[in-house]
Amino acid sequence: MLQFLFYIGFVLQTSAFIAPPDEYACPFPTSKPELDSLRPLAKIYQDESELFRGLVGRRTFVDKTAFIKHFLDIREQLVLVAPPNFGKSTNLHMLKHFFQIPVDSRGANLTSVMAEKAAFFGNLSICKNHPSICLSHLSSAPVVFLDLESVNGSTPTEFHETFRSEVERMFRAHGYLSKSESLSAFNKEEFAAYESHSQRPHRTIGFYKCGVDVLTRLLFTHHRRKCILLVDNFDRLAVAAMLGKDEENLLPVEVDDIYFSLGKTAKHSEFVSRTLLTGVFRMGSHRQWHDANLFYHSIFADPQISQHYGLTLAEVETLIGRLGRSKEHSNVDLHGIKHYFDGYRISDKQIKIFNTGTVVGYLEGADEDDLIPSLPLFSIYKPLFRFELLGEHLQEAGEHGTNLAPQWVISITDLFQLREAVNANVTNFNGTHDKDLLVQLLQEAGYFTITARHPNGSVHLEIPCLAVKEAYEDLVYHDEFFVIEEEKLERELEADATKNNTHGHKGKKKGL
Ligand SMILES: *[C@@H]1O[C@H](CO)[C@@H](O)[C@H](O)[C@H]1NC(C)=O
Ligand SMILES: *[C@@H]1O[C@H](CO)[C@@H](O)[C@H](O)[C@H]1NC(C)=O
Ligand SMILES: *[C@@H]1O[C@H](CO)[C@@H](O)[C@H](O)[C@H]1NC(C)=O
Ligand SMILES: *[C@@H]1O[C@H](CO)[C@@H](O)[C@H](O)[C@H]1NC(C)=O
Ligand SMILES: *[C@@H]1O[C@H](CO)[C@@H](O)[C@H](O)[C@H]1NC(C)=O
Ligand SMILES: *[C@@H]1O[C@H](CO)[C@@H](O)[C@H](O)[C@H]1NC(C)=O
Ligand SMILES: *[C@@H]1O[C@H](CO)[C@@H](O)[C@H](O)[C@H]1NC(C)=O
Repeated sequence: MLQFLFYIGFVLQTSAFIAPPDEYACPFPTSKPELDSLRPLAKIYQDESELFRGLVGRRTFVDKTAFIKHFLDIREQLVLVAPPNFGKSTNLHMLKHFFQIPVDSRGANLTSVMAEKAAFFGNLSICKNHPSICLSHLSSAPVVFLDLESVNGSTPTEFHETFRSEVERMFRAHGYLSKSESLSAFNKEEFAAYESHSQRPHRTIGFYKCGVDVLTRLLFTHHRRKCILLVDNFDRLAVAAMLGKDEENLLPVEVDDIYFSLGKTAKHSEFVSRTLLTGVFRMGSHRQWHDANLFYHSIFADPQISQHYGLTLAEVETLIGRLGRSKEHSNVDLHGIKHYFDGYRISDKQIKIFNTGTVVGYLEGADEDDLIPSLPLFSIYKPLFRFELLGEHLQEAGEHGTNLAPQWVISITDLFQLREAVNANVTNFNGTHDKDLLVQLLQEAGYFTITARHPNGSVHLEIPCLAVKEAYEDLVYHDEFFVIEEEKLERELEADATKNNTHGHKGKKKGL
């Protein structure tokens, strides 16, 4: 019966005949949230001692907990983009651990875990420097955490299944809701519908895209507190859809819908206090174009944000110092890092930040050639790098820098248009927009850094460092013309690197 009621409720809410004109609205039942009550203490439901805690003990840990203050000070809805390995996921896990209210399997507060968390954060910069923030915000909110990294778009079915499984995982992290005394039977039916699909294996994306909206409402009902919404790898949906085979072109509409729905929950939900979405690319719905309420920001655009991501030169020096090596060895390491990885410029200032992943990898002895991640998206676009299409522009951009007026949001339609261009006939190719889009994607992936901002809103881009220059060449120079060009460049770089090479790292990688 309950199931039936739930089903009716769902149909009523979504049906085109009865529902309000907004076809994208998620179902919202009419029953009022009930008041909270005390519950007996049972075993810990959520495992709080996860990713972030594991990092803190490590030699390579750099305390960026001051970001928690920034998160509270800045906008309530923010999308932060940065190339891989600047600490985006780590900071999200840190926020989750800091804010999450620890509860037992029936949803009752676990005061002992709260005390333990207070001791843990008491050792870190946020609570040392801002004790009042810790008093009022530590363990203060239910946290909805969605990580889309494992969404796989190899086929539309695979896309549905992997997305659904992430939504289910997000619900299961709050499994205590199924026993909550504050939730009505109807609410529990809603919860059960998202927690497992075994009863109804064929629910659509339209159902799962509402998961965040539903979960935040249920959590509010239980905790009587607004949620903090954190989404990691949010750009993955679009990238995954691009990488797969989708002959009927089903995914673009669905991906756009999910982005739109997520953006709407972030901006308008009365059950969400703050939202942070992070990813590499500025992916979003084309319907939120220039929507100032969901603010997209690069970590490099603002020193106030960049200080919480990546590593400053001083932090690099601190890390090297911790390794306990001889002064000479340390100097060689520092020189190597500056030589190969240099830093990404912040805004148009002289401040630079280094990529955490490459610096730590380098210090741990990895080959510098392996430290710049190659992103699968660009393998799809590789034919566009042909000299006759965009290759000439890209070569010019790589060598002398380029000006670009970046798009605010990149929609999945943009990505698909770029893929269409892959098959373009050279004669009728008109790549003005495609060139800018590709350069923007390259910039967001970390192949370019912004060295100047023009009053008209455009930016000047340059390749940030030697290691990226090599990765860029690998990406862009691949047909016969570029093999010749590359050999010439390689010889120059080789000569350069030999001159500057101080500690036996090999200066240049093998050919193609
Ligand atoms: C806080 O730091 C002290 C000294 O470094 C250490 O002994 C203690 O275990 C730390 N406490 C927590 C909760 O991590
Ligand atoms: C549980 O903890 C939250 C956040 O600290 C607090 O607002 C709430 O009142 C607590 N609930 C109970 C029943 O103690
Ligand atoms: C996606 O799934 C397919 C098979 O289901 C697998 O071959 C492929 O490697 C996966 N892709 C990613 C990026 O995980
Ligand atoms: C390329 O496009 C031009 C003009 O549209 C057309 O004349 C030509 O046949 C096309 N070539 C190929 C190989 O499709
Ligand atoms: C190429 O595209 C740009 C921008 O989309 C447009 O302004 C221009 O007229 C186009 N040129 C041709 C030859 O189609
Ligand atoms: C903006 O200004 C810069 C430098 O003055 C110029 O190179 C660029 O072409 C301009 N961009 C646009 C879109 O007008
Ligand atoms: C090598 O060192 C010289 C002088 O120290 C510098 O001008 C040059 O840019 C360096 N080359 C590279 C590839 O870093």
